Amino acid sequence: MKIITTPAEMQCRSDAIRRAGKRIAFVPTMGFLHEGHLSLMREGRRRAEVVVASIFVNPTQFGPNEDFGRYPRAFERDCALMQEVPVDIVFAPAPEAMYPAGAQTWVEVAEITKGLCGAHRPGHFRGVTTVVAKLFNIVKPHYAIFGEKDFQQLRAIQRMVKDLNFDLEIVPMPTVRESDGLALSSRNAYLSAAERERALSLSRALEAARREFAAGARDPRALVRAACAVLSATPEIRLEYIEAVDSESLASIARVERPVVVAIATHVGKTRLIDNAVFTPPPPG
Ligand code: PAJ
Repeated sequence: MKIITTPAEMQCRSDAIRRAGKRIAFVPTMGFLHEGHLSLMREGRRRAEVVVASIFVNPTQFGPNEDFGRYPRAFERDCALMQEVPVDIVFAPAPEAMYPAGAQTWVEVAEITKGLCGAHRPGHFRGVTTVVAKLFNIVKPHYAIFGEKDFQQLRAIQRMVKDLNFDLEIVPMPTVRESDGLALSSRNAYLSAAERERALSLSRALEAARREFAAGARDPRALVRAACAVLSATPEIRLEYIEAVDSESLASIARVERPVVVAIATHVGKTRLIDNAVFTPPPPG
């Protein structure tokens, strides 16, 4: 497994791989890897001859009062996990290599990033789409693999790829969960045992919404109500938002006639956690 730290060397490598007629699958991450990340890398392994993963805690997607400084980092351990997949190339640049002094260009996806997390984390998605656009220009992948765990991020990146004619395919992958339902996240490392127990209310709330949907509810407010009933049983967590919106546009809907995503963001102690679930109505008739 080769570790590359500069954009120029990565571009040179990717050019050589492409000239040799090989395909590149790319998994961007911020490290502190778990099974969710590894499932994306294994999908890359199935799709392409060369798998590239990046580890970069991107400063531009963190707000001034967020956890950039204390975001968990474990590069050696991450490398051992990636070797098992196996990943072929790890791109791990320093912040100065990605954002040299004088940088002033941003990539911004306008509509899809307005609601949900975008409404509570100003500038977050602009940082995400900017770094992902840069990473695409550096790694030059044929496939880029993203988790549905970060659903709004996935939709913003799909929109960006379409709008800016990036010549690659975005591959979405399902959320990997612990056996009790908790969605894997690098931020779970912040949770105490008591907080981890409280964090289970997110996936349980989504399960309640799923049951409501399966019982025939098509009013998005009914799905939210069912989820809220579960969330309110854990008063220690602070709800940031819960919404049921169109799973493509992330726009509000009056009735579920196409796939709907129920998305939740909460604060459990000092830790911000998100989760979501998509429900698809069966075709009519
Ligand atoms: P990070 O949070 O490290 O996540 C990297 C990728 O792993 C994302 O595509 C995310 O959706 C996916 N992922 C996280 N938890 C998952 C889970 N439980 N199951 C499946 N996939 C999961 O998302 C980022 O980093 C950054 O914003 C990034 C895209 C790298 C840009 O900086």
